[in-house]
Amino acid sequence: MNEKEGPGAVPIACACGEKATESELLRRLDEILAEYHGKPGALIPVLQLAQGIFGYLPENVLKHIALDMGKSYSEVAGVVSFYAFFATHPRGRHVVRVCLGTACYVRGGKQVLETMRKELGIEVGETSKDGMFSLEVARCFGACGLAPAMCIDEEVYKRVRPSKIREILATYYAPAAKKSSARKPAAAKRPAATKRPAAKRPVAKKHAATRTAKTNSRITAKGVKVHG
Ligand code: FES
Repeated sequence: MNEKEGPGAVPIACACGEKATESELLRRLDEILAEYHGKPGALIPVLQLAQGIFGYLPENVLKHIALDMGKSYSEVAGVVSFYAFFATHPRGRHVVRVCLGTACYVRGGKQVLETMRKELGIEVGETSKDGMFSLEVARCFGACGLAPAMCIDEEVYKRVRPSKIREILATYYAPAAKKSSARKPAAAKRPAATKRPAAKRPVAKKHAATRTAKTNSRITAKGVKVHG
């Protein structure tokens, strides 16, 4: 097939910058299909791998899989729609998931979601126009004690304040800045209160004894002034 013609000529950009034509990606999918050919329970792993190759599962890919595996399109599409981790539309470079589990919901998760929708200008399940963010909701990240929580890719944000959301999103447009701000601060100054008080030294007495010695007298440990 001539890759400069037809739909296969459309370059698909990966987040790492790699561009591959649809034909190249379909060739990779065929290798996967050959590997799983005839294996029982192969549909879900094949779909997962296909999503890894294409970034999502478009209709033509589902039809390609159904044809190769001898299944109906509706059966394959039904499996895809059943599992939340399968996406049938392109996702943004970053996936934002706002937790709406009980703890997060009662502590402001809904306000976090509302603010996120406004900031990104999209609804749940959509991707921002610049392709940067997709918005989803989730049930629980296991951070209930620090609710409300949200997740961007693999990073979990706890005690999220709606007023901070714009600032958080901005860090994804400037990864270098994010990296430096995420760096641990340089060794903190020890608070003055932690400084150990200077120990009283018996030298004072010694000095006192020395000073008094200049006048031919000294003070013993019992405080008795001794002359001569
Ligand atoms: S309910 Fe949101 S992290 Fe558990």
